[in-house]
Amino acid sequence: MNVTKCDIIFQCCKLVLESAGQLDMMEFSIVLCTWRNQRRTNKDSEMLTNIKRLNQLIEINRDLSSTLNHDKLLDLILTRITQSIDAEASSIILMDDDDRLTFISAIGEMHEEIKKMSLRRGEGIAGWVIENGKPVLVEKAEEDSRFHEDISKELSFPTRSMICVPLKLDNRTVGAIEVINSRSKSFFDQEDMDFLTEFSHQVAIALRNAKIFGKINNEVDELKSIFDLKHEIIGSSKALNQILRLVQKVAPKDIIVLITGKSGTGKEMIARAIHESSPRRHNVFVSVNCAAIPEELLESELFGHERGAFTGAVTSRKGKFEQANGGTLFLDEIGDMSLRAQAKVLRVIQDQIVQHVGGNREIKVNTRIVAATNKDLIFEIREGNFREDLYYRLNEITVELPPLEERREDIGPLAEHFIKIFDKSMNKNISGISRKALQRLYSHSWPGNVRELKNIIKRAMVFADGEMIDEDDLSPEVTGITHEESDEPVIEFFDAEGVPVSLSQIEKDHIERALIYTGWNKKRACEILEINRPRLDRKLKTYNINRE
Ligand SMILES: Nc1ncnc2c1ncn2[C@@H]1O[C@H](COP(=O)(O)OP(=O)(O)OP(=O)(O)O)[C@@H](O)[C@H]1O
Ligand SMILES: [Mg+2]
Repeated sequence: MNVTKCDIIFQCCKLVLESAGQLDMMEFSIVLCTWRNQRRTNKDSEMLTNIKRLNQLIEINRDLSSTLNHDKLLDLILTRITQSIDAEASSIILMDDDDRLTFISAIGEMHEEIKKMSLRRGEGIAGWVIENGKPVLVEKAEEDSRFHEDISKELSFPTRSMICVPLKLDNRTVGAIEVINSRSKSFFDQEDMDFLTEFSHQVAIALRNAKIFGKINNEVDELKSIFDLKHEIIGSSKALNQILRLVQKVAPKDIIVLITGKSGTGKEMIARAIHESSPRRHNVFVSVNCAAIPEELLESELFGHERGAFTGAVTSRKGKFEQANGGTLFLDEIGDMSLRAQAKVLRVIQDQIVQHVGGNREIKVNTRIVAATNKDLIFEIREGNFREDLYYRLNEITVELPPLEERREDIGPLAEHFIKIFDKSMNKNISGISRKALQRLYSHSWPGNVRELKNIIKRAMVFADGEMIDEDDLSPEVTGITHEESDEPVIEFFDAEGVPVSLSQIEKDHIERALIYTGWNKKRACEILEINRPRLDRKLKTYNINRE
């Protein structure tokens, strides 16, 4: 090969290395000097070896930048090293937090076995390299006093020669790369060691990047699972199932949905579920709480404003209808909107056109509306607080969320669900709720619905010391209810005189409890009581149990 040809190859290599961004200038100058020195000697064979090594380095660098998967990266590194140096085996050793040296990856005949081994700090040749931060070339391992022959013996894998180079990050040795037994020569030489040393720095950086990437990835997964968990709709009561079926039906169409229900029943959750199950799910879900925005700002908030439209409007701004273009606008607490704003909203819903406050430009929007209220809108219409025409426009489909009290079956699953959420975010180790505590939850009347249950679980998690939430961890609103105060039947085993009650009395109480627990879902009650339906119906008649 002549020099001109080498020059071209060299330039190409330089370009590849630079574009891979993996070899820093310092290392590159080393390669350059080595190559130039070689050129001066003008020995073609040496130059060819050099170019081969350079090519190998390029390939290795390309490999290093091709993956951020830690395990895959380790395998790639070792495969490349073993091939390039023509070794029988190689391994990467890292120092762990307990100062033990672990073989985190290995290639060669005994690779699985070696990964189970570890060394003490300073032990063996790798220990010496990590301790001293210097590379070592050992021609005859058994003659080297640092050699730790136990591993070799245990694996029945004789180590003849080896190279071990440090892996350094920010001038700190964090581990080592080791290659064992040359296949083509009786032992490794200086050139092999230089080659290994040259790219060990890149390996250290690649490993660090992969580790950081892995950590970030885990955090993202964790956050994603918390996010998914928070938006998961929990409950298996008949009432909730009916609602979810309705949501699936109405979501794909662009119809307006009005969600009603007491505070904390999950209206916003359902609104999100409608958006997430609709073709608009890849676009934004914009939520606006009409009750929380002062009357004079609501119009500009919803429709946007032009610069100078009012004092303080220093720039023009898009309103929520425009922001939600292509997506869904959730008008929460719509029953609290002023009549003036209601008139404007009605116009936008009808024409799909908004006008900024202080402007007359007509802006076309394609926004799906989902609205919610905890007010009785029919009553508000009668009182003159809500426009009838807007009500009928919003009321294309109404989803009515029942209070938690009417779907007691959901209490248990919801409590478990919130425990899971808070266990993650509070970093506790609580796996569930005791039977007694759960009984307390079933006996409560839940004026604040699911939100109240969520808050009670959150508070209990703070107080709980053990693995389970116990009765004592619950707040007084829940535990303070005495049996007399509760509307629910409680199984009493003794009468007022302290005499045990009859078996049929206990059976009656127990059937009532099961029916309340299941929200009068008789099928489910039969499953719990382990009796068939005709038998349950007979018992209801006998004991005169009715749903009030
Ligand atoms: N079925 C459910 N599964 C899981 N979490 C729920 C469920 N229903 C409600 N929640 C949770 O309860 C809390 C209250 O729900 P949400 O905010 O949707 O209620 P809301 O009806 O909009 O209340 P408000 O009228 O007070 O605004 C939220 O934290 C929500 O995540
Ligand atoms: Mg809400």
